[in-house]
Amino acid sequence: MTPLVRGSQLARLLGQWHALPGRRRSPDYLALAGAVRGLLADGRLALGVRLPAERELAEALGVSRTTVTAAYRELRGTGHLNSRRGAGSWTMLPDGHRVASSGLWTPEDDLDMLDLSCAALAAPVQLQAAARAAAEDLPRYLGGAGYHPTGIVELREAVARTYDERGLPTSPEQIMVTSGTQHAFDLVLRLALPPGGRVLVESPTYPNALAALSARRARITTHGLAANGTGWDAELLLGSLRQTRPQLAYLIPEFQNPTGHLMPEQLRERVVATAHAVGTDLVVDESFVDLALDGITVPPPVAAFDRHSRVISIGGMSKPYWGGLRIGWIRASAPQVQRLAAARVGVDMAGPVLDQLLAVRLLADAEAIVAVRRAQLSVQRQALLGALAEMLPGWRVTVPHGGVTLWAELDGPVSSALARAAEEVGVRLAPGPRFGLDGTLERFLRLPFTLPAADLVDAVRRIAEVRYDLDRTSRPQWSMPAVIA
Ligand SMILES: Cc1ncc(COP(=O)(O)O)c(C=O)c1O
Repeated sequence: MTPLVRGSQLARLLGQWHALPGRRRSPDYLALAGAVRGLLADGRLALGVRLPAERELAEALGVSRTTVTAAYRELRGTGHLNSRRGAGSWTMLPDGHRVASSGLWTPEDDLDMLDLSCAALAAPVQLQAAARAAAEDLPRYLGGAGYHPTGIVELREAVARTYDERGLPTSPEQIMVTSGTQHAFDLVLRLALPPGGRVLVESPTYPNALAALSARRARITTHGLAANGTGWDAELLLGSLRQTRPQLAYLIPEFQNPTGHLMPEQLRERVVATAHAVGTDLVVDESFVDLALDGITVPPPVAAFDRHSRVISIGGMSKPYWGGLRIGWIRASAPQVQRLAAARVGVDMAGPVLDQLLAVRLLADAEAIVAVRRAQLSVQRQALLGALAEMLPGWRVTVPHGGVTLWAELDGPVSSALARAAEEVGVRLAPGPRFGLDGTLERFLRLPFTLPAADLVDAVRRIAEVRYDLDRTSRPQWSMPAVIA
């Protein structure tokens, strides 16, 4: 059966759809159609979903039915809606679109876009030499069948060593190599979360983790992170665990995506103890752990406080090295790793041997590569902060001491409108609500500092221009749609 979005739900997703630049010149129906396109582009409105009947949406938005009829006609014209008389209208995408690396839909021909929707660096210079060396290593494996569901031993050893170095003794049998951290998370969910199970996540959080959870039909509760300070409120977080007793909690303790927060040591210990007491498994995403900046010390891994195999750690090569490697891993107990491998054979059997050999080569050179990455990120973060202070002084940012993203608090609830407007001037943004569940993060915007400094400054200049256009827009009388619990 086709999923249906109700009028009240769509109204909530649309938020301040009228706040578009140039609104004085464009009629309501075009603003509405543009806002629906924006929701489709950033994945908050799925494809193949049946939109509400015109009358229902008109009522929910407090506009005339003619406006909605005209907006739907416009969306059909641009290839975003397919209607059949008597049966309804379904969302679709026009030809010539592709999925971008951020998971957002994007036109095929926008390769010149300054893409601030993706928080990942270009490859390090060492990658090509490492790839050649890996090809030389390959013959050692060619005599076997090549299937290693938990990963090749030498990479499992190299990853285990990284945990040893962080003060968490780990054997290779506790490591499973995956095709990236996202794959690791999906596998863990297959093992540890029954369909419809209850999960606690941070809000904001990593959008593709939410996508993986919704694929498991997880019932999600959120712990709201403060934009400033240390982020997590210890009492609230532990209280939520005690009250909701989720099967699983997903946390990003190191330079959290998107806020950049670093969880203090004491809270790590308390979260593990509480999770154990209430029977919750913790999935700890360590994607950014290598990217501490400003010489700060990262507390011990969350799993260092675990005595009962409650903590499953996931991580990977994408952030310090390169996303195109598609190498990630899971650290769990040895029996859990065996169960994960058994689940994996039903998905993709095993990862490519050559890519794993390349990862081994890169990890052998970790110190040099990561030092350069940190230096590069510091410079880029500085450029981004400087440009924001100069051109958007009304925005508030807490400087993150690691990771690759800033979580900016805007001077109004305009994140989605700003993302739509920025697209027009060649900047792709992932608006705040993409990082939450309930459309409440319109005052926030994630800004990665993974592009070269000059591009970041150029992007902020363009964003600032359209931000001021939004302000010059006359706002029609509008009452916020009620939030549906
Ligand atoms: C917190 C977090 N987890 C997982 C991922 C996905 O990583 P991978 O490319 O290793 O699948 C990302 C990428 O942005 C991330 O930020």
